Amino acid sequence: METLIEMRGICKQYTVGEQRVKALNGVDFTVARGEMVAILGPSGSGKSTLMNLLGCLDTPDGGSYRLAGQTVEGMTEGQLSRVRGETVGFVFQGFHLLPGLTARENVELPLLYRGIPERVRRKLALESLQQVGLAARMDHRPAQLSGGQQQRVAIARAVAGNPPVLLADEPTGNLDTAAGREILALLRDLHRNGHTVVIITHDPAIGAACPRRVVMEDGRLRED
Ligand SMILES: Nc1ncnc2c1ncn2[C@@H]1O[C@H](COP(=O)(O)OP(=O)(O)O)[C@@H](O)[C@H]1O
Ligand SMILES: [Mg+2]
Repeated sequence: METLIEMRGICKQYTVGEQRVKALNGVDFTVARGEMVAILGPSGSGKSTLMNLLGCLDTPDGGSYRLAGQTVEGMTEGQLSRVRGETVGFVFQGFHLLPGLTARENVELPLLYRGIPERVRRKLALESLQQVGLAARMDHRPAQLSGGQQQRVAIARAVAGNPPVLLADEPTGNLDTAAGREILALLRDLHRNGHTVVIITHDPAIGAACPRRVVMEDGRLRED
């Protein structure tokens, strides 16, 4: 299988005042196309830091990272932002939908940033909302949708451009158990349809549902 994510010896530290925090301390992580992986670990262990680096939202202090065949370290802001837009779909705990836009407009927004023409955007957004079971709600604004539905819109937005990698950071963290289960089922469907899914979570139930688990501990990663 083609390797999509290849991290070697990744380090990241934060400086707050005089204090230095080693958030990542030599992380090795490889993901092949089509895998579904849960990254588990306690709060403060470095999971979100890893997600930010995986998604090219931030850059490491050391180590090497290849994403979909491209060497990430040393890229300029502009290059990083292009790789991010083309390669990664993000799902966050807090949904991050724009409140003034409808579900369809939210899903179309990243496609708009990528310069995809309106007719294609419409089609991709509609297909994506159908995939998450929300085509009938496409003209609703986030406030008119439940938390679970908002997260489904966010997932539709993340996969509309068919990026090679879907990254989810605590995707069920703001949801009740039933809605959380629906989101997990949806992520598993996407995986079955060939998507590569990396889920960051401290929920053991999600971990148990993923074919592969890795655990973050004190800035290091180990296979479960
Ligand atoms: N922006 C930041 N500035 C300073 N310290 C940070 C920042 N982000 C995270 N940290 C610290 O890095 C460590 C790892 O945090 P994080 O990656 O958020 O862990 P997790 O997502 O597993 O809870 C923690 O000690 C946290 O306090
Ligand atoms: Mg976190």
